[in-house]
Amino acid sequence: MNVKREFVTICEAACRAGAAVLREMFGRVSVREKGPADLVTEADLASQEAIRRVVLDVFPDHGFLGEEAGGHVAGASADGFRWIVDPLDGTTNFAHGVPFFSVSVALEAQGHLHAAAVFNPIADEMFAAAAGQGARLNGRPIRTSGVARAAEALAAIGFPPGVNGETEDLRAFLAALPRFQALRRTGSAALNLAYVAAGRFDAAWSFAARSWDMAAGVLLVAEAGGVATGPRGEPLDVNRGHFLVAANEPLHAEVKGILASA
Ligand code: IPD
Ligand code: CA
Ligand code: CA
Repeated sequence: MNVKREFVTICEAACRAGAAVLREMFGRVSVREKGPADLVTEADLASQEAIRRVVLDVFPDHGFLGEEAGGHVAGASADGFRWIVDPLDGTTNFAHGVPFFSVSVALEAQGHLHAAAVFNPIADEMFAAAAGQGARLNGRPIRTSGVARAAEALAAIGFPPGVNGETEDLRAFLAALPRFQALRRTGSAALNLAYVAAGRFDAAWSFAARSWDMAAGVLLVAEAGGVATGPRGEPLDVNRGHFLVAANEPLHAEVKGILASA
């Protein structure tokens, strides 16, 4: 069997395991704040546990980096394999009963992304990619859009929890608002990137993407023909939090320029 396809299959199975938990608990969980305006529910933790079981059952020597407490299994396998997992991306939407959230699972080794899946359990949409083998939505190949000008583009933004009035996020937002056809703040960074990969959004950015928010989405965008970089166009290091800008290939430079002008 093609090894990368096998990895994608595990990414998808892990996403579905987490999603089953989320669907079960949607609309009936208690919520607490782990930081200012930064929510967590029992569903985040239960989803992560379900995902961890799927992955480590098959690859017990692999590393595992999950967002939630207890999700950090030290190190990685001898060949550096590590799973990067957001068990519920869009917790605020989830906690309010808004059906727009996702599960994000990626496999990384020595800074390279090998396989990824982002799953929206409510829409039953599985976005998946293997390095060098393209990106798919429910099995069908996807590509980024052909919209080449910001004035014609729909872009998605991500603000960190507890964003305040004086941050670069808001300066960039105000600079971008009149330049794009429209902007959306969806509440799920992973779905923003998956939508860029599928050509639904033309661009997406975040000033505070964490490894688990972006790892799977970055591979989806790249495999769908798009570009995801740091603020100056440099390659992303998925092992640390980042400013991230992703877009279809012709639009990327203009988006980067608009954000840099803020
Ligand atoms: C959040 C979402 C949101 C983004 C935040 C993330 P969470 O993740 O992706 O869209 O703007 O920066 O923290 O907490 O729902 O997993
Ligand atoms: Ca997240
Ligand atoms: Ca999360």
